[in-house]
Amino acid sequence: MSQQPARPRTADELRRAWDDFFAARGHTIVPSSGLIPTHPSAPMFTNSGMMPFVPYFLGEEPVPYSPRRAASVQKCVRAGGKHNDLDEIGRSPRHLSFFEMLGNFSFGDYFKPDAIRWAWEFVTEALGIDGDRIWVTCHVSDDEAEQIWVDDVGFPIERIQRLDKDNFWEMGETGPCGPSSELFFDYGPELGPAGGPANPDAEHRYVEIWNLVFQQYFRSEDGRLSDLPTKNIDTGAGLERILAVLADSPSLYDADVLSGLVDEAQSVTARRLGDGELSDIALRLLADHTRTATFLVADGVVPSNEDRGYVLRRIIRRAVRFAYMLDVERAVMPPLVERCIQIMGGAYPELVEGHDRVVDMISREEEGFRRTLARGSVLLDSALDAVPQGGHLPGQVAFELHDTYGFPLEVTSEMADLRGVTVDLEGFDSEMAAQRERSRAAGKRTGVAAGESADAERALLAEHGPTVFTGREEETTSATVLAVIGDGLFLDRTPFYAESGGQVGDTGTITTPTGTARVVDTTYALPGLHRHTFELVEGTIEPGQEATASIDAERRAAIRRNHTGTHVLHWALREVLGEHVKQQGSWVGPDRLRFDFAHHGALSQDEIRRIEDLANHEILDNASVRHYETTMEEARRLGAIMFFGDKYGEVVRVLEAGRHSTELCGGTHVGALGDIGPLKVVSETSIGSNIRRIEAVTGTGPIERLRLEEDRLRSAADLLGVPTEDLQGGIEKRLAELRSAREELKALRKQLAGSQADELVDAAVDGVVVARIDADSRDEVRDLAVALRDRPGIRAVVLGASPGGKGVALVSAVAPDSGLNAAELIADAARTVGGGGGKGADLAAAGGKHPEHLDEALEQVRAAAGVAG
Ligand code: SER
Repeated sequence: MSQQPARPRTADELRRAWDDFFAARGHTIVPSSGLIPTHPSAPMFTNSGMMPFVPYFLGEEPVPYSPRRAASVQKCVRAGGKHNDLDEIGRSPRHLSFFEMLGNFSFGDYFKPDAIRWAWEFVTEALGIDGDRIWVTCHVSDDEAEQIWVDDVGFPIERIQRLDKDNFWEMGETGPCGPSSELFFDYGPELGPAGGPANPDAEHRYVEIWNLVFQQYFRSEDGRLSDLPTKNIDTGAGLERILAVLADSPSLYDADVLSGLVDEAQSVTARRLGDGELSDIALRLLADHTRTATFLVADGVVPSNEDRGYVLRRIIRRAVRFAYMLDVERAVMPPLVERCIQIMGGAYPELVEGHDRVVDMISREEEGFRRTLARGSVLLDSALDAVPQGGHLPGQVAFELHDTYGFPLEVTSEMADLRGVTVDLEGFDSEMAAQRERSRAAGKRTGVAAGESADAERALLAEHGPTVFTGREEETTSATVLAVIGDGLFLDRTPFYAESGGQVGDTGTITTPTGTARVVDTTYALPGLHRHTFELVEGTIEPGQEATASIDAERRAAIRRNHTGTHVLHWALREVLGEHVKQQGSWVGPDRLRFDFAHHGALSQDEIRRIEDLANHEILDNASVRHYETTMEEARRLGAIMFFGDKYGEVVRVLEAGRHSTELCGGTHVGALGDIGPLKVVSETSIGSNIRRIEAVTGTGPIERLRLEEDRLRSAADLLGVPTEDLQGGIEKRLAELRSAREELKALRKQLAGSQADELVDAAVDGVVVARIDADSRDEVRDLAVALRDRPGIRAVVLGASPGGKGVALVSAVAPDSGLNAAELIADAARTVGGGGGKGADLAAAGGKHPEHLDEALEQVRAAAGVAG
């Protein structure tokens, strides 16, 4: 009897078994790439193992593996966009927002027979799963796949079912797609009725473990399908689902890795699985969401209100909310995240590298959200106060609670129910539908031009390959016009840099023997294909013509200074603020540079100066700049700062800007740091929670700003009539003059008020003054009222005014033994002028909205004081 190899049971063993099995079958083992995909047609997150390979499926880039096969264990997130499992998490024991996908891929190499045979072999032999418990589905149109299962594998036809949509896999709204064949594991009659995976009531019993996709089409933005250049294989098996099958449990949370996270969730919440439905959901959700958040933050996503950051924020908040519902008052995320890094850091070292930042960022989000939650409860309570018993809580309120405060509808409904109120579910649903529409629009990525021009561009790339970029060596290049599509001009070679990595596209001219075009922008129509957006200046430009392509060299030089300047600035930021400063985005143009980064608070003046000083010192040192190609592995070894989503095994460009800054960068750069010229930060702002934006200028930029400042100073000096050098003295002198003029004015006013006061005292009736006066402020009215009251023989004073013509000020002041009450004197009058206030017995003031009723109000005062005419 032959010795069976040990069967994998843990995640590590399963990953290793996968790699070994496919390496033995000619596959290059490719490490997982990041969760933020880079391809223009990709959705928000890497949602399956195939995504890093999209350029090979589309024929946009040469396949670097020989033979043309690869296998991987890819980290994936399905939260947002086409594949969104978020709402199922916790309720379903089989859905996860983060999971690892085992995949094997063929790029125009082997096709259905090998893919099917190897899947069967791996499942039944390498894993030792009982083949009798497997069911298979194939697409309704795919007789070939069914035949292979029956003839090559000997699989019983009774356990093959043919489905339509469920057997057609698509990456997203656009991108590669094709029919599929899926393998299901039958958990047995305790978990549902018979009938195979086609029976919709049996979803708990028959669980999909592996999807074999026959990638052969491309879905364009207009929805049309076209053939991919080759027929490909893309398979994906959920690591967690297979581990659960191996553990003979229908719950993914019982298997290796997730069970460890559930343990931690049990300990932080002091609940156990099985205690109750709500706490079971919460425990599973905490395990899942913690893992997703940990990986997303490690890959550079920052909680915010848009795009990926918004999805991350919702995931963290949802986890916290469930802990809150279980009345767990202390922070739960820090210990959960720590545990996740501990369990998964071996397989994914980026978690260990990012440890401090990840723990810190998620903890802060939890702290902030706990405060919000407390406020949300207050909001719900006061909204409920406004609804009578038996009434409806507006759907809008329930939605806001759900969306902004993370209150699930059930919780809102329950709390409303306790007060005899029901939630307007229709209103809630319509708000929800509008929200879905918004996030669908956000999740959709464009980048491939619509319709025919996209087809023509793809054909161009297939025929001629990528555009040769000469713009690192020369400013003018002789080239051949390949095509003119709309206002896009395509060349075989070009010195024009196409917008990417934050650097704007070049402008310039393209001339042929028959015409001249002004290039107003350069972009990538498809990865590798430069599109020159042009305006015809004269003549015509035809495909096949020889052309001279020249960039605007001065503009490019300015862009270059700003781009290398960005790298120096990035280094200086990390030196001054800390290593957590992580690039979130950048924009490099000719007139300025913009750099967005993760940081938790505004920068102080002092920090900005230190950053500027450090950067300029580095620039003046004038070390040389090296820009070269190398492998990803080497770049990593050099400690280059890189974006997640960069792929291993590929050739990358490393930029060493002086002695301290090493980053991956495909942009264009100066030869030595001194070429950058002075660097000056011109603004520092917040663009979302935890994200700062710095704008800076380099080269001649600071000089231009200096001139602008000089001009400003000069015109200010001109206005004051002093030479610029005396500006400060001039301002001080004017301020002193202004001060004494004000004092003079005050004295005059006082004098005037004195005589006004005399007149008012003369007009007093029985020691009571009631009058309408002109005044500029409420204070003036009060001061005069008090001054009058203190005159001999005066018992009470009520003055009314409308300062500045807006509103009413009523002031009432009474002498100590007058027998009158200040507030009572103006109580009716205050109501008449549409106001209120004034409670003092000796001195009371009231405001009002209706100056037009002031005279009437003063009559009421006279009546109240018993001095009515
Ligand atoms: N792309 C397919 C899936 O995600 C197979 O890898 O299911």
